[in-house]
Amino acid sequence: SLDKPFTVSWTAPANIALVKYWGKHGKQLPCNPSLSFSLRESTTTTRITFAPHKSLKVSFNFQGLENERFRERLEKFFSSLGEVTHFFKNMEISIESANSFPHSDGVASTSSSLASIALCVCSLIYELTEKEMDDSFYRLSSYFARLGSGSASRSVYGRYSIWGHTSILASNDEYAIEYKDYDPIFMELCDAIFVVSDSDKRISSTVGHNLMNVNPYADIRYQNAQKNALKILDAMKKGRLDTFYAIVEQEAMEMHAMMMVANPSFLLFDPNTIAIINRIKAFREQTSLPVGYTIDAGPNVHFLYFERDREKVMPFIEEQRALCHKGIIVFDGLGAGPVKNP
Ligand code: PMV
Repeated sequence: SLDKPFTVSWTAPANIALVKYWGKHGKQLPCNPSLSFSLRESTTTTRITFAPHKSLKVSFNFQGLENERFRERLEKFFSSLGEVTHFFKNMEISIESANSFPHSDGVASTSSSLASIALCVCSLIYELTEKEMDDSFYRLSSYFARLGSGSASRSVYGRYSIWGHTSILASNDEYAIEYKDYDPIFMELCDAIFVVSDSDKRISSTVGHNLMNVNPYADIRYQNAQKNALKILDAMKKGRLDTFYAIVEQEAMEMHAMMMVANPSFLLFDPNTIAIINRIKAFREQTSLPVGYTIDAGPNVHFLYFERDREKVMPFIEEQRALCHKGIIVFDGLGAGPVKNP
């Protein structure tokens, strides 16, 4: 057990799903497999000091400010870890976090935040048990991250991650694994985020997941996601870009369709979300370039393209500024994954 304070810091990426996780059961287990990629620029850095204490005490400071709501969430998270491992019962845990991106960028920071915390937790456990860093370090981090926020399980890796059972891979519901078997063009994936709105219109994902439990279309959605996961892996392996984008876009639309047919219903698209989607389709038809979009649980559009087409797509990207909130476009892309800080 811990007899003196231990400090550790990790930087973890936000991820964006290509096959969406929307619907969960049990202890944060997904109703279908999901596939995502980690972003290069949008990250969260967390430094944690673990110190011996008579009971569990958690403090949380985000960019110099205390955040009571998130602190409470983290305290619950650490007490649930206390059920899995005995380490976290008598400990003072002081957490300091900062994002590389402003809140107004509309990038969801829960995944990078919980992943960076989970990596710190895992470093502590490895320190206490004197284990060498190995692949199981990331699997365990992913498992802990999942208990904090499902999508965070996919943020402990770089590039592409799969979380959830599929019939062809060794993937499972407990933790995510890195997916590596794809055509090299996918190393070039770029993501220009059109920030349509910076309002907190995003629905709380807890509410969203729960509504799936009473959504009459849920089972069909889970079956489709299962099929789409297999199809997209095949398309990525073979470098079939048309199929890749067809699935990615269908996935974004299906998740939003689930929100629209939920009871109560949620409509997260802004008029400019739709305008941009239509422009992307028209641009693809005119140019035949391999581009497409995905959308998170919010109104912003992630425009996907490949590095080799940068010059050809840049004028199109710039044309969308007028439809973006304060003209904000975030240039991001496939990232290499988490980093341990000195
Ligand atoms: O990790 P959660 O519970 O906040 O779920 C978020 C799920 C989406 O981001 C909307 C989709 C996904 O697969 O990441």
